[in-house]
Order: sequence, then structure tokens, then C-alpha cells
Amino acid sequence: MPATIHLVRHAQGFHNLSRENEAIHDPRLTELGEQQCQNLRAQFPHHKQVKRLFASPLRRTLQTCLLAFGHQETEDTLQQPPVIAIPEFQEVADSPCDTGSDPATLKQEFASLVDLHRVYDGWNSTSEWPSWSAKSESLQVRATKARQVLREMLQFAGDDDHVVVVTHGAFLHYLTNDYYGVEPARDPDGRDPEASLIETESSWEKRYGKTPRPTQDDQDKLQANFGSFIMTSPPALQRLAGKIAIVTGSSSGLGRAISLAYSREGASLVCVDLKPEARAEVASECEINTDELVRQNGGRAIFIQADLSKSDAVEAMVKQAVAEYGRIDILVNNAGISIEARHAPLRIHETPDETWDVTMAVNARSIFLTSKHTLQQMIRQDAFPSGDRGWIINMSSIFGLVGGYNNCSYAAAKAAVSNLTRQVALDYAPEGIHCNAICPGYTQTAIFRNTVDFLDDAEGIRARHPLHGVGVPEDIVGAAIFLASAEARWITGVSLPVDGGYTAQ
Ligand SMILES: NC(=O)c1ccc[n+]([C@@H]2O[C@H](COP(=O)([O-])OP(=O)(O)OC[C@H]3O[C@@H](n4cnc5c(N)ncnc54)[C@H](O)[C@@H]3O)[C@@H](O)[C@H]2O)c1
Repeated sequence: MPATIHLVRHAQGFHNLSRENEAIHDPRLTELGEQQCQNLRAQFPHHKQVKRLFASPLRRTLQTCLLAFGHQETEDTLQQPPVIAIPEFQEVADSPCDTGSDPATLKQEFASLVDLHRVYDGWNSTSEWPSWSAKSESLQVRATKARQVLREMLQFAGDDDHVVVVTHGAFLHYLTNDYYGVEPARDPDGRDPEASLIETESSWEKRYGKTPRPTQDDQDKLQANFGSFIMTSPPALQRLAGKIAIVTGSSSGLGRAISLAYSREGASLVCVDLKPEARAEVASECEINTDELVRQNGGRAIFIQADLSKSDAVEAMVKQAVAEYGRIDILVNNAGISIEARHAPLRIHETPDETWDVTMAVNARSIFLTSKHTLQQMIRQDAFPSGDRGWIINMSSIFGLVGGYNNCSYAAAKAAVSNLTRQVALDYAPEGIHCNAICPGYTQTAIFRNTVDFLDDAEGIRARHPLHGVGVPEDIVGAAIFLASAEARWITGVSLPVDGGYTAQ
């Protein structure tokens, strides 16, 4: 039997006294609330077995956890674990009483009593921060995340261990998937992707006596009904909701896949390329232009034509993007060429100067130019609640990390991209701007078509990627979303291989 989790709703807070009091920001417990905690402390039979204490980081939940379960100097026998504040357990609505305090305030009030290391800037921004949105779908995602956090933190818990989670009444419905009574879910092998919780028979009986448990169908209806009662802010479930993203080389291959994925994640797009149409080598990409497809799918996108190796064109492109959207949050420097993939293999002593010059201009100089002009804009913008002000993602290559054969200018340009990434990361960290690179292995785009036609045999290339062989554009998309999202909060200056193990050898 796994550890027993005691899910506890906070005691009475000042917001519970009247509707007007719901306007109080992050209220404390009332006197009665404090007494309720003392009563619970006296009645709770498992204090000695409690191995972990978790609480939502609102004042009333932290107070409840400390007063009812926390260590108290007066009780020699109790050496309770510290209370760990977990933002995923916060309340569901975005009214003042359900909005938590800033980390700095919480540190002042609770630092010696509560472990606040998971509580970061933006955790209490229910209207602006996607993960904390007060929308039913977001809450279901958050509840799953909360259960996964719990499972992860309890992976070494013993069968007799008890754990306390102090959270909020409304969130408990999402946490337990129980919109009336209980959700009798099962997770025998610990792999249920929902990490469902199971309520014990005794808990159910204590709450509802002999009332029969509702069916899954009943629960679904109750959940739909419950969701419609929650006061919501605008939707923000997507990982890039509300962000403005420039994607260069957006008409084909990786740039096209990233543009479509960013739009699905809620970003508005500035698609930039030499022309709006895809390169002819991949027929399926030629059916409809990227920006049109984004709009057809309900997203927002404009196309700007620009040769990114030209300074004037880049400056004009950035100005046009800002004129359209007012700001730029994400820059994906994806445009690139591989002249060396278009002819038979040549080593450096056989390589025309022009190959080097053009490759450097399109693959390296263009990133200098777009970064320069976009950063001028980004540093002027207000930061997000997290303190982040922008995300730059440069498309490097496995050849920005290791050498290959017969592509001296491409490899040199991509190595420049990887090191420019580190440079920008350091120079702009003070402004909260991330700069990371993705280093794809061979990926099936127009460039790849040229590669297999002129340079190498397909089987040989496939074998150099131990995991799944060569990639497809969608294999790069996950990294591009992640590196532009709040999940990458502490990541900058990395050149991330996305290469099926090519560079692991
Ligand atoms: N496909 C791969 O195997 C692979 C592997 C590693 C890295 N990369 C890199 O990924 C990026 C995208 O490549 P892809 O495979 O999708 O290639 P692709 O040829 O399908 O797409 C590249 C796009 O960039 C545009 N472009 C080229 N020069 C430009 C310029 N001067 N100004 C504006 N746009 C320009 C092209 O018109 C094209 O639409 C490139 O930087 C490439 O070096 C690709």
C-alpha cells in the first residue's frame, strides 16, 4: 500500500466571513480558523507518522498547515517535517482573496517556518501566467501537475507513511477529480498519466456515510457544471499564450513546423522568409503558405519578406513586426542554407570563396543582425511577471557541436551560432532575456533532400542517429516550444542537441 495522503482544506479565513471580504488580498485565518486548527491538531491521530507536509502558498493554507500539523517547540515529542509550499496547490479563482502574495512578502512572513524554494515570481499571477489561469481546462492540467509533483516527492515514501496536503476547497475537486464525492480511480502500476488519487473507504464514509459513490458519468457531468461556476480570466492554457514570436525561415521545413506549433501554443506570429511559398523540394509544404495556414487554423500571423543577410532588410522587418504587434517576445533565428549539400563533396582546399561568404552571411551574420535589432526592442519592453523579458532561440546544428565531412563553411557558421548564443545569453541575462540554441541532427526537410541527393547515402546517415534514425521537423518543435516557455525559466546559453543521439557517440 502506498503512503496515505491527508488532503486538508484550510481553516476559516477572513474571506469566508462575507462576500465583501473576498476583496481582501490573500487573507489570514480568523480567530475561529486558528481554533479549528488547534482542534484538528488535537484530533489528528497520525502526527508521529507524518513524513511530509505540503501546503498551497497562500497565507491561510500555510497558517493551517503550521498550526494543525507543524512543529511546535512546546511539544517535545513532535519533530514534524518542515512545511513545503507548492504553487500547484493554490486556489482556482483569480479574485483578490484567492491570489497569493509575492515571494518576497512570503519570505518575510514565513521564511523560517516554510520551505519556499518552489515559489517563484509569477506564481500568484492568475490572470497573466498560463499555468495559474482560472479556467477549467487549465485547472485540470494544473491538478494533474500537482498530483505528479506529489508522486515525485513521495516516490521513496514507505507504506506506513502519512503525508498532509493543505489546499483549498475548490481546488480539491480538481485535485481529486471528485466533483461530488469521490473518483474511484485505480493506478496499479504507478503509470497512470493522470496520477489519479484514490479516496479510502473510511474517508468516503466519514464524508458521505452510506451515500452510494457516483459513476464516472455522474462525475463528468458534475465537473462540467462545476467548471461553469468558476470566475475566469481570459484563457491561458497554452504555453506561449499572448506572446509575439518572430520565426525566420518560416516558409519551409523547421521554421514552418515551429510557426504552426507556436500558433497552437497561443503565440502570434511574424513569419519571415525570402518568399512566402515553401521550397519546392517538399511538395506537401507547397499546398498552402505557412502564414495562411496559421490564419486558417484560427491563429494570428503576418508574413514579412526579407533577405536576413542584409542589414537594412532586417531593421525594416523588426520595425514592421513592432508596428503590427507592439512588442516582440520570442525570436527564432531559424533561416539557414547548406550550399555544401547542393553539390558533390568538397574539402576546404576545393571550396569556392563564395560558398564560405554566402554561408557565413545567411547562417551567421543574419543571426547577428536579427538579434541586434530585436534586442534593441526587447530591452525596452516591460518584463513578464516572472522577470523574463524575451526568448531567443538560434537554430544551430550538430555541426555547431562536432565536425562533419566536407561542409567547412556550414560547420564554421553553425559553430559561430552556438558561441554567439552563449555570448548573447551572458550579455542579456541582466535584462531577463534567454538565448539558447537547438542543434538538430539530420532532419527531413528540403535541405535534407539536397543532402541525400548529392552528399551521402540515406542508410549511412540514418545509422548515425541511434534513436529513431533521421528526424522529421516535428521532432524539433518540442524543444523550440520548451525553450520559449516559462518551463525554461533558468535555462540560457545552452546548445541543445536534438539529434537522436548523433552527438552522444
Ligand atoms: N534539416 C536539417 O537536417 C537541419 C539540421 C540541422 C540544422 N538545420 C538548420 O535548421 C534551419 C532550417 O533548415 P530547414 O532544414 O528547415 O531548411 P529549409 O531549406 O527547409 O528552410 C529554410 C528556410 O530558410 C529560408 N531562407 C534561406 N535563406 C534565407 C535568407 N537569406 N533570408 C530569409 N530566409 C532565408 C528559406 O527560404 C527556407 O524557407 C537552418 O538554419 C538549418 O541550417 C537543419
